[in-house]
Amino acid sequence: MATIGKDLLKAKKLLIEGNIIGLPTETVYGLAGNALREEVVVKIFQAKNRPSFDPLICHTDSIAKVLGFVEQMPEKALLLAERFWPGPLTMLFKKQPIVPHLTTSGLDTVAFRIPDHQLSRALLAELDFPLAAPSANPFGYVSPTTAKHVQQQLGSKLPYILDGGPCRVGIESTIIGFDGPNPIVHRLGGIALEALEEVVGKVDMQLNQSSNPVAPGMLKSHYSPGKKVHIGNIPALIGKLSGQQLGVISFTDEYSAPHIQNCQVLSTQGDLNEAARNLFKALRAMDTPEIDTIITEAFPDKGLGRAINDRLKRSAAVEE
Ligand code: TXA
Ligand code: MG
Repeated sequence: MATIGKDLLKAKKLLIEGNIIGLPTETVYGLAGNALREEVVVKIFQAKNRPSFDPLICHTDSIAKVLGFVEQMPEKALLLAERFWPGPLTMLFKKQPIVPHLTTSGLDTVAFRIPDHQLSRALLAELDFPLAAPSANPFGYVSPTTAKHVQQQLGSKLPYILDGGPCRVGIESTIIGFDGPNPIVHRLGGIALEALEEVVGKVDMQLNQSSNPVAPGMLKSHYSPGKKVHIGNIPALIGKLSGQQLGVISFTDEYSAPHIQNCQVLSTQGDLNEAARNLFKALRAMDTPEIDTIITEAFPDKGLGRAINDRLKRSAAVEE
């Protein structure tokens, strides 16, 4: 099993030697290794059981370093970088040849972000290579937001997990590309659409291309907690599904009934950022044998509510 700890020197040494480790970020934990070495990147794909057509995000700690790996940064990207980096925004750029095709799954673009987490930034500052880091979960499963989640699912495949505490944002980064007349959002995430548009004006959306996706992590059945998920009016669903043992994920209200095994309220105050932070933990809590079915509701369609709805819809798509 992996050791869990806060030893930056140990993490650095393992990475320089070509190992992969669990890495904390403000969004979710990553499974990190040297993005420039194919034999390391292969280990990431294998540990996650991730199809090789699904490219990885590279992480580093400064715009100057990013510029060493990409052809150029469009003006709007620079504006976004200055406003949101370090932070939960991933941007797509034309790659330089030094970035291996395996890291980008053969695409000529590479995804980059500067994470906003003190431990991971301190580590990245010490490295002269970017870290490729997909979320540290087996492919298709819910992303981890604590070191323990990583240990539970991938611990046997890693020497070390750097423990940075629970993730502050709790949902993956927003992904944006610059291929069209307007910037194009490929994944909703930790930076809200409204915040992006304040900086660069209108953005377009191209989510959920399930065959040959631009962001293949957006396959419809991603984020599966392994149960059927119903999205709707919670009291009505509780009545309708009286023959089943239920797990409930609600925004603000607690529900109880004899057939409710677990009710997870994401934010009693109705705060969408807090709800995003608690979402994956709640989905994980539903993954127990006592629960047959998960019910949840549509969240307000603004701010991080959009990203929450996106993840819930994808978890619900599994058996529909
Ligand atoms: O918050 C995050 O972004 C986390 C943390 C660890 O940084 N990482 C993460 O990685 O969510 P992952 O691998 O689970 O999701 C990466 C997404 C995938 O949907 C992938 O298809 C997309 O990024 N992606 C990566 N490179 C791409 C590229 N060149 N073009 C389009 N999509 C790309
Ligand atoms: Mg992922």
